[in-house]
Amino acid sequence: MVYEATATAPVNIAVIKYWGKRDTKLILPTNSSLSVTLDQDHLRSTTTSRADAAFDAGDRLWLNGKEEAVKEGGRLWTCIKELRGWRAAEEAKDAAKPKISTFPLRIASYNNFPTAAGLASSASGLAALVASLAALYELPQSPSDLSRIARQGSGSACRSLFGGYVAWQEGVEADGSDSLAVEVAPREHWPDLHALICVVSDAKKGTSSTAGMQQTVQTSPLLQARLKVVPGRMAAISEAIKAKDFDAFAKITIADSNQFHAVCLDTQPPIFYLNDVSRGVIALVEELNRAHVEKTGHLLAAYTFDAGPNAVIYAPEANIPTVVAAVNKYFPQAEAFPDPFKVGTAAALPQG
Ligand code: PMV
Repeated sequence: MVYEATATAPVNIAVIKYWGKRDTKLILPTNSSLSVTLDQDHLRSTTTSRADAAFDAGDRLWLNGKEEAVKEGGRLWTCIKELRGWRAAEEAKDAAKPKISTFPLRIASYNNFPTAAGLASSASGLAALVASLAALYELPQSPSDLSRIARQGSGSACRSLFGGYVAWQEGVEADGSDSLAVEVAPREHWPDLHALICVVSDAKKGTSSTAGMQQTVQTSPLLQARLKVVPGRMAAISEAIKAKDFDAFAKITIADSNQFHAVCLDTQPPIFYLNDVSRGVIALVEELNRAHVEKTGHLLAAYTFDAGPNAVIYAPEANIPTVVAAVNKYFPQAEAFPDPFKVGTAAALPQG
């Protein structure tokens, strides 16, 4: 009998950024965040997990064919330990269930896009890992329950367990039991919203998100002001998504990206994730928006940047050709992905 399961999870791109931990071990954030999960067909991680009594002792994991150490006490180890514990609890309840929780694991994960290039590979990777183990172990827990485990692998991963529009509620409990992801709206609710990913640089980022967040929490006075602003933004952008109000969605998305990067600049020493090309994209979208408001009264597009220089531009489908033409005109060397990405379907949870 082979015990094996495969799951995939797409990348998610935050419009209200998670930046700062109040608990670094449990990965509890200093603020709630909200993201859009991209389409499965494009940027995704696929993970296969196998449990076998015949394997040598110890769990092993390969990422894009290269072995990564599963260090005791580390993030991968924690996720595996928690899920194995849930399986063991199911086995204890039901004597007929095979005791696969005691078997060593072999896990292989692939990204269909460059790893650690500021394209949120850790989010999809850890979400796919958790989803594949949940399928292997036939766990009855809900995606929100599983998101608490994925969160401990990489904070933003908790949001990739859902498709569409997803909030990560910061929670108040010290044990992290209420710090989890919930669906704000499924993808089908607002399929008109598209994401264009402009890869400004595919080099690995200079300051990891873990180091950047720690520096921010320790040294940025501006972070305190941000933490007061975020709850209002969370409520307003959730409303905008429910109402499919692109103008409100875009204004908040742009403001939150800029505030996140302002906070990074406010640390000691300052962190610069944006480069001159990123700032050029900002100037371009701001100008396109100014002209579009003058003509139509509405915004054309919204930009957002994670912990790196790459731009993600959200826009209604009808506006995408204008954005693509402008990006290609002003950044002629840049190779945009050929197609804009649709907002995604749910992470493929248990597939057996
Ligand atoms: O989950 P991490 O540690 O990779 O941090 C992600 C941080 C941002 O991408 C900048 C923001 C976010 O909410 O995804």
